[in-house]
Parts: sequence; structure tokens; C-alpha cells
Amino acid sequence: MLLAAPALDGAGLQPIGAVERVTRTERGLELACAQGGAVTVTVLAPDLVRVRAKFPGQTLALDHSWAIAKTDWPATPWQLAESPTHVTLSTAELQVVIQRNPLLIEFRDAATGRILNADHRPAARDPQSGRVTAAKKLGYEEHFYGLGEKAARLDKRRGKFVMWNSDTPGYEEGRDPIYQSIPFYLGLENGAAYGLFYDNAHRSTFEFGHLTQDSADWSATGGELNYYYFHGPALKKIVSRYTELTGRMPMQPLWALGHQQSRYSYYPDKLVEHIAAEYRARQLPLDVLYLDIHHMDAYRVFTWDRSRFPDPDGLMRRLDAQGLKVVTIVDPGVKYQPPANGAKDAVKDRDLAPQDDSYFVYNEGLAADHFLRQVDGSLYIGEVWPGKSVFVDYTKESARRWWGDLQHETLSARGIAGIWTDMNEPADFLDQTGQRHENIIFDDLGQKSAYAGHRNLFALNMARATYEGLERLQPDRRPFVITRAGYAGIQRYAVKWTGDNNATFAALSLNIPMFASLGISGQAFVGADVPGFIGRGDGELLARAYQVAAFAPFLRNHTAIDQYDKEPWRFGPHYEAIVRKFLELRYRLLPFLYTTLEEAHRTGVPLFRPLVLNFQEDAATHNLDDQFMVGDALLAAPITRAAQREREVYFPAGLWYDHWTGAVISTGGETQTVKAPIDHLPLYVRGGSIVPSTLVMQHTGEKPWNPLRFDIYPDARGAATGSLYEDDGASPAYKTGVFRRTVVALNQADHTARLTVAAPVGRHQPPARNLEFIFHGGTVRSSVTVDGQALAAIQEEDSSTGWFRRRDGATVVRLVDNSTARQINLR
Ligand code: GLC
Repeated sequence: MLLAAPALDGAGLQPIGAVERVTRTERGLELACAQGGAVTVTVLAPDLVRVRAKFPGQTLALDHSWAIAKTDWPATPWQLAESPTHVTLSTAELQVVIQRNPLLIEFRDAATGRILNADHRPAARDPQSGRVTAAKKLGYEEHFYGLGEKAARLDKRRGKFVMWNSDTPGYEEGRDPIYQSIPFYLGLENGAAYGLFYDNAHRSTFEFGHLTQDSADWSATGGELNYYYFHGPALKKIVSRYTELTGRMPMQPLWALGHQQSRYSYYPDKLVEHIAAEYRARQLPLDVLYLDIHHMDAYRVFTWDRSRFPDPDGLMRRLDAQGLKVVTIVDPGVKYQPPANGAKDAVKDRDLAPQDDSYFVYNEGLAADHFLRQVDGSLYIGEVWPGKSVFVDYTKESARRWWGDLQHETLSARGIAGIWTDMNEPADFLDQTGQRHENIIFDDLGQKSAYAGHRNLFALNMARATYEGLERLQPDRRPFVITRAGYAGIQRYAVKWTGDNNATFAALSLNIPMFASLGISGQAFVGADVPGFIGRGDGELLARAYQVAAFAPFLRNHTAIDQYDKEPWRFGPHYEAIVRKFLELRYRLLPFLYTTLEEAHRTGVPLFRPLVLNFQEDAATHNLDDQFMVGDALLAAPITRAAQREREVYFPAGLWYDHWTGAVISTGGETQTVKAPIDHLPLYVRGGSIVPSTLVMQHTGEKPWNPLRFDIYPDARGAATGSLYEDDGASPAYKTGVFRRTVVALNQADHTARLTVAAPVGRHQPPARNLEFIFHGGTVRSSVTVDGQALAAIQEEDSSTGWFRRRDGATVVRLVDNSTARQINLR
């Protein structure tokens, strides 16, 4: 008989032996297995258990992971029960039921006894090749989410996915692997979810019933079987725990939510200023401009091309005066360039000096032995933009510090606001598969580890060097770092864009499952090149792309070197006006987006969400990835096909308002066909939400949020809640309580709508401003009181304190913000 499925091909695999002895340790169990194998089960939290296996003949590496942020878990109570056939470890939330022979592990819900995840076969390893495998039972109705960046739909059921960071320009749906490796997924069946994180950076493969009805399979070409089980049943809870383990996104500067413009590449400096001037003249909001690889002297990192950028400091000052930040690219490839005879590095302004005879970065890195070497001790020389290049061993602390300091001296001290780390798979024009790199050795805390287990970690450690450098050297500013590649934990250091996508509708439609999957895999700050990097696109694509991008945390227009310009005005005034409309919407919603960003920072639950994250009980959302939610409040159903002017929208249970008209459109649990002309995004607000917003501005620092608005959308019972998070938007002071959180709640009793604005919490003091509360739902009001005092009725044109009925039927209440608790009653 022929076994078709590679996952079932057990050739050479040796299963872990039966349990022979159980030892209770402080945090869990040590299972001694037949033939010298062992399995350690560690309780980290009532809903988090780690399983680490040692197969016969295997020597385990240092118990250290570059992905893990938290190891000091407080002790949590657990119990042990043993029978002749089973060992059961129980916490308040779950049971780990271990069958002794053969060794099979099952995770059950403590309250219901329901099995959420169970081994299908014992874990196994091939002692010859080092390949390790695990197989979990596949549920008939089980859905799979996560795995970070995949050019695939949201639900990964029946799919096969490989983790091997790869430079894949122009990738299309189905191309796998692409840039990142996040070996974490969530399983959901009949409303209950669990998560599994296989912390193994080797090339690994996930198969979710790809060629079999029996199992969800994992295997890696080397390393350890070392996984974390996260117990739900809520998806949000799992994402939150996963990001506690691997770290959460730090607060980004407010300007990071602004519109950003890039091209490969803007030069000389006059063109950069021309683009800035166009933006301001056309009143298209913009916060950031990018300098791609041509700002450097012959692609040498940490240098400037003085003919194109004679005075970088002056350029930064002039852009700063217009409220514009600059982010520069920094690639990992350092030009391989031994100095010409006797040539010395410049002492002053090293980054501005000509580098043709002597390149200070190469010289310093070589002298300090920061570059990657091969087994035979030779430098690894690959080929990227500068031609022959060497690469830094970022597993060395000293190398990370050196790199961090370089970017400060040559970039941030010149006014650069952020760093764009690219090509960090690492890309190599000589070989994009990594085969040519096999002999590279990483220091890895003195373990001298092989490339096979480190390629996927390269970007993580480079981002760490970048982030920690900025943090160390400008302690009063939040670092801003973007990355292309990554491994689990990358969110601690960098935000993510999805690389060299195509300027096509097919690529646009992939934005939604990609951003949503990245979000539930820990990376809350994501976006794609708008309207697409490769290909020309057209005005229609540009307009539709901005309708999605308006809600992507990272909103950047970018294009390839040989492509038609894609700034918003390049396809004519009709499309430019549509882009302006959605940029203005974005900037108006900054208070809401920033509040949602802070929620992601604090809890790990992302801004950009698949519907299943908010409505996991609703089976209609399980495979829904052509619409998305922003936080808990907004539902967007963009058009991602050419020439399409209407679409179906699914509304989960609840009351739904049309964002544009304020009218109730659905009472939930149904699909409607809605119109979507080219300038329209079907956008809805969930009843029960309160959405903060402000006025349009041309960049995030242009004006304070004044007036500050709260749009109130009652649910079927007349209730709603929301909050506003504010801080200085730039410094790390938020970490020590310098922020302000305002909670707002509406309820309904005796024909009175009562809005409670709680006293703000935190030490941040916003400037004096006006507040506007907009009550949707159309109820006609006859009187309004604030803290028991009658409020005067006013005309809409009067800007003072008072209330009025707007033409769309909403009741608007205007007050001066006095930073205290408020009670507003509407009758
Ligand atoms: C890579 C990046 C792209 C960049 C180009 C030149 O292709 O993904 O964004 O513009 O390199 O640096």
C-alpha cells in the first residue's frame, strides 16, 4: 500500500517511549520515558502549559528562546492524579491528561471535561536527520487561524504551510512560505478555542488535515519539540496570553497612525521636498516620508549620498517645519569592502564622508568580529544591494549594541524618526533558499548554533538591535521600527508591512486575511504597500486600496523602482478626491484608532480583526475574510474586485448602524446586499459602541483634538459603552501613568437616556477643549440636563455650550471639557 500523505510517512521516526516514571517538580511533571526519553510538562498559568520533549539520544540545547518575553510566571496551583494508565495534571481551567503507554497528551476543559486538543500519535523524532513531529487529532468542524504572515485565506483548514523566511517579491495567494515565520495557531471548534505555539525556529511544516482526515500535523527539520498550549475557550484570551508570553507591541508614536508616503526611491532631496509640497498644497493628510536605498552612498548602510542629499540635517529641519517625519531604510547587508591601501575612516561626520576607499561600518564590524562566519572560520559573503556583503551576528550582545549605536549617530541624531529594516529574511541574491548559508554559525549565547535553526530568527534579532538601540539612545522617544521578516515575538520591536505585494485586486483582497491573521498572531500593527508595490494599478485600484488601508494600522503608499508613480494624485482628480475622503476619515478617527492601538498594546488583541475574533460563537464568521472589524465598534466591508459596485455584507447578532448616515441598517444575524459606488466604503458601527473622533487635520501633530467628539450608538436596550485613551503621543511617559483614560457609558431608564462620563484616570493633561456628544438612534428629545442643570437649546452654528437636533435626527450636546465626571440626561 502506498501512503500518499507525507505527514503519515513515518520513515525513520522513533516515537517517544512510554512513561516509566513520573516525578513531581515545583512547576509540573518530569516524565521519564522508555529508552532514555523524557517529557517535561510545566504549568505557567492556569491556562498555559508548556511541553518539552527529549527524545532518546537527543541532547537538548540551552533552555533559552529568542521569542519568549516572559519567563517569571507567578506560581499557580495545580493538582496531580495518577492511575495505572494515566497521569492527570489539573489547573483551575484545564486538565492535561497523559496516557502512559503509548504516551499521548490530551488537553481538556476543567469545567466541562470537553477535550479541546489531543495527540493523534505519539510525538516522534528521526535520530538520523533530527526531524521532529507531532500530530493532533483533527476535528470535523475545526477551524484554524494564525500562523502570522501567510499569502492565504483566514481559515487555514486543509492547508499546508511552511515556516522558512523567504524574500518573495510579487507573491500571490498560495505562495508559501513568504517573509515571516510565526509557528503559532489557534484552533476553534464548536465555539471553543485553544492555541499552540511550537517554539522551534527550524524550517517547520504545519498541515491542518491537508491530506488526511485524521490529524493536524507539525514537523520541523531539527531542534526540539517544545510547545505551549493555550486554553481558551475565548480566542481573545488566547491572543492575549500568547502576547504575554512572546511580548506585546509597545505603544507606537501617534504619528505612526498617520499617512505615510514612500517610493523606491525618492531622490534627490529636492524631489522629497516636492512631494511634501504637493501633499500640503493638495490638502492630502501626510505624516511621514520614506528614504529608500538610494539615500545611501552606493548602498552602504549608515552612510549618505552627498550628491543627492548634500545636507540631510537641513532637509529634516525643513520637513519637520511642515509636520513631516522621515523614516530611512536600513538593510542587513554591509558592503564587503576591505580598505584601499592605507586609507583611513573619517573621524567627523563619518556617515557623510566618501566611503570609496574606506568604509567605516565594514572596518569597525570586522575589527570587533561582529560579522557572521562559517564553520571553517571564514566570513560569510553574500550578495545584496551593495554587491558583495557581510551580515551581522545579532545574537551577540556586543554586535547588537554596535548596530544600535550606528543608527543613532548617523540617522536619529540627524532627525530621522524611524528605521525601516528590510531584506532581513535574510535575502541574498546568490541564493534565496538559504542552502548556500548552511555553514554559517551563530554565536547564540556561546552555543555556536547552526544556520538551520537561526535563519528564521535573524530578523527578530536585527529588529531587537534596532529597537533597543533607539530606546537606549533616545530614551525620551518611542522607537519606530518596521520590518519585513520576523519570528514569534517580533511585535516587541517592530511593526510589520507585507513586503512586495502586487498592485492588483487579487492582492488587495488578500490584505484582509493577511492583516487579520497577523493580528491574531501577535502583530497588531500591520499594513501593506498601497495600492501595491509591483505593477501599475489604476485609479480604481488606488481608490479601493485606500478604502481598506484607511483602517490598516500601518498606512503607507509605496511603489517599486520601475513602476509608475502612485501618489494619490497620479491617476487624476477624481481618484485623488476619493483618496482624500478616506484619509480625512482616517484622521478624524484618530482618537478611536489610538484608543484601539492602546488596547492592542495592553492586551494583545489587535485593532484590525477578523469577525471571528469578536463573534466566535457565530459559525457564519468562521470562514469570513472579505470584511473585517476595527476594534469592537467598526465593521468594514470593502470592495476588492474590479468593476464591482455592490456586495453582500454579513451582520452578526446586534444592532448595526450605517456609519455614513447614522441610521440603523440591520438588527443582525443576516446578510444584505449593499451598494458600493467607487467613492463608497460600506462601513458600519455596532450598536452599543461609543466612538471618539475629532476634526480633520493635515498631520497628526497639527492641532489638538478639539473638539473631541463621541458618537454614541445605542444597542437594542439603549445602552452603549466606549472609552478614550490619550497621552503625549511621543514619549515613553505612558509607562509610568502619564496618560488619560476616559470611560463613557450610556444607559436607558424611564424614557431618559443617561450618559455617564467617568472622571478621567491618569496624569496626562490635555489642553483646554470642547466636547461634543452625538446621540444616534433618532429619538426626539425635549430636554437635556448636565449634572442636574438644564442645558440651553442652541442652533447648530453656535459653537458654545448647549444642545440641538441635527438634520439627520441625532441629538448633539456640546460642553466645555472640565476634566471631571459628567452626567448628561436626555429626555
Ligand atoms: C525590497 C523591499 C521594498 C524596497 C526595495 C528597495 O524589495 O521590500 O519595499 O523598496 O527592497 O529597498
